[in-house]
Amino acid sequence: MAPTRPDLNRVGKPTGLPWYAKDVEFCRPLNNNEIPIPFRMPSPMRTRVSAHRVDNEYIDKYHLAVQLMKSLPDDDPRNFFQQASIHCAYCNGAYLMENTDKQFNVHSGWFFLPWHRWFLYFHERILADLLKDDTFALPFWNWDYEQGMTIPPMYLDDTLSLFDEKRNPNHHKSTIVDLGFNATRRKAAPPLSSQAQVGYNYRLMYKHVVSLARTTRAFHGAQIRKQSSSCTCAAGMLEIGPHNLVHDWIGSPVNKSCPCRSRTNTGTGTGSGNGDSCEQTCHGENMGILYSAARDPIFYAHHANIDRLWTVWKTLHGREDYRDPSLLDTRFFFYDENKLLVSVRAGDAFDPDNLRYNYQRCPTPWIHKPKYIDKPTDILLHGNPSIPLRKPPLDFTEPVKILVDRRFPEEQLLIEGIRVQRNIAVKFDIFINLDDALLAVSYVDTLPREFAGTFHEAPQGTTADVERGCGQSSLCVGISEVLSDLNVEEEETSIVVTLVPKVELEEPIKISDIRMV
Ligand code: C2O
Repeated sequence: MAPTRPDLNRVGKPTGLPWYAKDVEFCRPLNNNEIPIPFRMPSPMRTRVSAHRVDNEYIDKYHLAVQLMKSLPDDDPRNFFQQASIHCAYCNGAYLMENTDKQFNVHSGWFFLPWHRWFLYFHERILADLLKDDTFALPFWNWDYEQGMTIPPMYLDDTLSLFDEKRNPNHHKSTIVDLGFNATRRKAAPPLSSQAQVGYNYRLMYKHVVSLARTTRAFHGAQIRKQSSSCTCAAGMLEIGPHNLVHDWIGSPVNKSCPCRSRTNTGTGTGSGNGDSCEQTCHGENMGILYSAARDPIFYAHHANIDRLWTVWKTLHGREDYRDPSLLDTRFFFYDENKLLVSVRAGDAFDPDNLRYNYQRCPTPWIHKPKYIDKPTDILLHGNPSIPLRKPPLDFTEPVKILVDRRFPEEQLLIEGIRVQRNIAVKFDIFINLDDALLAVSYVDTLPREFAGTFHEAPQGTTADVERGCGQSSLCVGISEVLSDLNVEEEETSIVVTLVPKVELEEPIKISDIRMV
């Protein structure tokens, strides 16, 4: 099983860029025919600090660094927008894996955590270099802790370089981040009280980072191999849940009356012709859609928190990263603070000590299992089914139930071949043995013991080119704890999985299979 790397001889126009993205040049990585140099461990130990706990001196410094970075020449690889462009290039198919026609995509699979760790590392080193302060470290946005659940004030001050106007205007300084957020709400569910919202967020964190993410695959996502012909795109529980949800919550709302929305398939965003009148704020820009996400400075604080949560997950009992050499020896290329193209090994990012940084300590109250006050019900035997059972392959716009055979010793539920409409963020929740009568918003909004995760996919644009990337995804959820919380006995040979769409859909969600693995 050979490791891979982006093929620098075939760097192209990103094929997966949404058609409404006008400035396509923005996603084309620099191609200076350079030979990447090996990475050398250099820096002094640095501590990343909580963005809610920094002082004015820090804010001035960080603002200055980002301002300097934004004002570097356009073709300087250290320029802020060049870096956002690198993120776009690695997520919209500007690179291919060497010796294949497969796009090198760093989302939805096992590259996600190590690639973003390296990406932040170089961003941080460039900031430090511009400041001539070797000890400078990024802040992290501690949105998983009650005291950090609002947007850190420095990102909201429009006189600072940390501000971005392409955000959701309804989410301002006093709004608590909503990890159950749907850009397009299915039902006008009443907003949760602050206290209930914090509780919801903690329970979602527990489920996605602790309970449902016990296995390497469930946490990190699927293996991505250059040999495999099938699409193996599948995000881990941290990526698909909290990571995607915070992106979506920050980005501007997806506007259904966007002037260009109906103009599908006008090409790959060449900047000419039909795409011209399109406003680039209708699709979740900047944070809510991958191609533009890293244009918002808050991206880096969000990802520092994701990175920190990886270190938290590793402290939990029995959790292990992938050790497969085809992942560890995979190479990524980045420009460093000296404008040199550097080749880094994915495996060298697995321990942050190696990269000489750590995180300020902060509480993680969500790590403890919440008390579920509801009683589990024996729905297979006594339930009063109002939703008929269906068999995959299937499509749905309303809640759907599927009987799934168990497989011992069981760990993981796999949902395969998920296809969703591309122009909005699509989301559905997964429940195990949920009584139909409890499908009311108020019940499922408590994230009860039956909850087995959220699937959330950012908008992707609508071109056929996107299909060449992945076009479909799958999800792997560790459900052993859910089954034991529900007192599912060994003798029971099947479980009922309920999938509940959380957004108003124009096209049904399709799945090809659902089974235990
Ligand atoms: Cu590369 Cu948060 O996305």
